[in-house]
Amino acid sequence: MNADDPNPTGFDESSPDLKQFRRTFKSKYGETFSLRPLNIEDFDRFLYMFDSFEPKEAAQGLPSCNEELRKTWVRKMLLESIIVVSDINGEIAGHACLIDIEPGIRAELEIMVHQTWRNRGFGSAMLELILEIARHLGYKKVWLVVDAKNSIAVHVYRKHGFKLVGPFDLELELELEL
Ligand SMILES: CC(C)(COP(=O)(O)OP(=O)(O)OC[C@H]1O[C@@H](n2cnc3c(N)ncnc32)[C@H](O)[C@@H]1OP(=O)(O)O)[C@@H](O)C(=O)NCCC(=O)NCCS
Repeated sequence: MNADDPNPTGFDESSPDLKQFRRTFKSKYGETFSLRPLNIEDFDRFLYMFDSFEPKEAAQGLPSCNEELRKTWVRKMLLESIIVVSDINGEIAGHACLIDIEPGIRAELEIMVHQTWRNRGFGSAMLELILEIARHLGYKKVWLVVDAKNSIAVHVYRKHGFKLVGPFDLELELELEL
């Protein structure tokens, strides 16, 4: 994908007012990072984050080990989701995205931070910003599925008020009322 594609991102075209959702933070280690909506110009750097993401396929099978499937998934995300990224000195270190699963009511959430940049507060900061965006867009609930063994992700979601809505199983369904 490149900037010449027609309709490069549903994000830019349908939600121009989301440009107001930009924030700057200091990490636990004093690094300055910014959170901002993804731009079409970011495509190569966004893809690179997933090409170099390890281990692959550990978070609900994502990101795929297969290069073509990975590229297709990233492209689909760009077209169909609202995405914010953590940017540290021009490098994309993580993303949070909202997928519209019940228009105007419920969105699915996904968050990933590159292994180089974990445990610095990026995931929590992106979660807070994407929840602000979800409220701004009028969603009533944000929902997700997480591997029950993914204690870091479960901790971050619980800390931000997500509640279990399905059975306690290998995968957990968590939801937050906005
Ligand atoms: C889940 C994920 C997005 C978190 O991102 P992050 O930037 O590392 O998160 P943060 O730094 O904001 O917060 C990490 C929290 O986990 C805590 N933590 C660290 N190790 C932990 C562990 N073994 N068990 C539980 N909590 C742990 C930290 O103390 C911190 O909590 P605190 O803010 O209360 O101190 C990241 O680990 C990731 O990308 N994992 C792989 C992809 C994934 O699993 N995504 C979720 C799919 S649903």
